[in-house]
Amino acid sequence: MADQRITVITGGASGIGRATADRLARDGDRIVVLDVNAEGAETAVEALRAGGTAADAMALDVADDQAVEDVFDRIESEIGPVHGVVHAAGVLQNAITAERMDRAEADRIMDVNYRGTWSVNVAAARRMKARQAGAIVNLASINSFAVLPIPSYTVSKVAVKQLTELFAVEYGIHGIRVNGVAPTYTITPAIQARIDSGHRDPEAIRNSGALKMLVRPHHIADGIAFLLSDQAAAITGVTLPIDAGWCAAVSYNSYVAAVEGFGQ
Ligand SMILES: NC(=O)c1ccc[n+]([C@@H]2O[C@H](COP(=O)([O-])OP(=O)(O)OC[C@H]3O[C@@H](n4cnc5c(N)ncnc54)[C@H](O)[C@@H]3O)[C@@H](O)[C@H]2O)c1
Repeated sequence: MADQRITVITGGASGIGRATADRLARDGDRIVVLDVNAEGAETAVEALRAGGTAADAMALDVADDQAVEDVFDRIESEIGPVHGVVHAAGVLQNAITAERMDRAEADRIMDVNYRGTWSVNVAAARRMKARQAGAIVNLASINSFAVLPIPSYTVSKVAVKQLTELFAVEYGIHGIRVNGVAPTYTITPAIQARIDSGHRDPEAIRNSGALKMLVRPHHIADGIAFLLSDQAAAITGVTLPIDAGWCAAVSYNSYVAAVEGFGQ
C-alpha cells in the first residue's frame, strides 16, 4: 500500500503502547514497535502480523540518544518515512517521599521519561521536517497536572507536558503536530501487578475520578488515535487528560471532604 501510514510506537511491547499498536493496526497503519524489552516487542509484532498487519520490532533504550538516532535512520532506510510517533516508553514508580527516594533510581526515571521524550521527539521531528508533515503523541500523566508522592516520576511527567508544548511550537511551522495524553491510573499489566501486590486499591482508583470507572489501555489508545488522525488537524501543544474526570474531581473532592454535611 503506497500511502500506508507508518507509525512508530515506543514502549509498544506492553500496556498502553501495545494497546495503541493494536488500535492503529486496526486503523490500517504499518507499525514499528520500539522497546527495551526486545522479546516483548517481537511478541507484540508477531500478534500484529498474525492479524494481517505489516509490523516490525526493534530493540531500543530510549534513554540512549545515539541509539534513538540510529533506530530512526534504520526505520527510514529499511521501512520508509515515519508519519506518526506514539512515545509510550516509560518507567513507573511506587509512592515514596522524596527523602527516601533512591537518587540513582530517580536519575534513571528522568533519563527514560524526560531525556527519552526529548530524544525521540527531536529524532522523529527532524526527519518529518523534510516532508513538512507528521504527528507525535507523548505519554504524560495526571502527574503533569497535580503533584503526587512519586517524586522523580511526577517531575518527569511535568517535563513531558512542557516538552510537548515546546516541540509543538518549534515544529508547528513545519506542519508537525505534537500533542500528549495524560492518563489516570490505567489498568495495564504494570498497574495490575501493583494491585496484585497490594500497592494499589482498585476501588480507590475507581472512586478517584468523576466517572467512577476503571480506565483501560484501549481508552488511552482511542485518544491517541484521535490526536494522530486528521480529525485533530488543528490541534497541537495539547496534553489531553484521559482520566475519567480525575483532574476535574481531585480538588473538588478534597474541598468537599473538609465541609461537614455538604450536599445532604
Ligand atoms: N498505566 C498507567 O496508569 C499510566 C498512567 C499515566 C501515564 N502512564 C504512562 O504511559 C506510558 C506507558 O505506561 P504503561 O502503563 O503502559 O507501562 P508498561 O510498563 O506496561 O509499558 C511500558 C513499556 O515501556 C518499555 N520501556 C521501559 N523503559 C524503556 C526504555 N528505556 N526504552 C524503551 N522502552 C522502555 C517497557 O519495556 C514497556 O514495554 C508510560 O510513559 C507511563 O508513564 C501510565
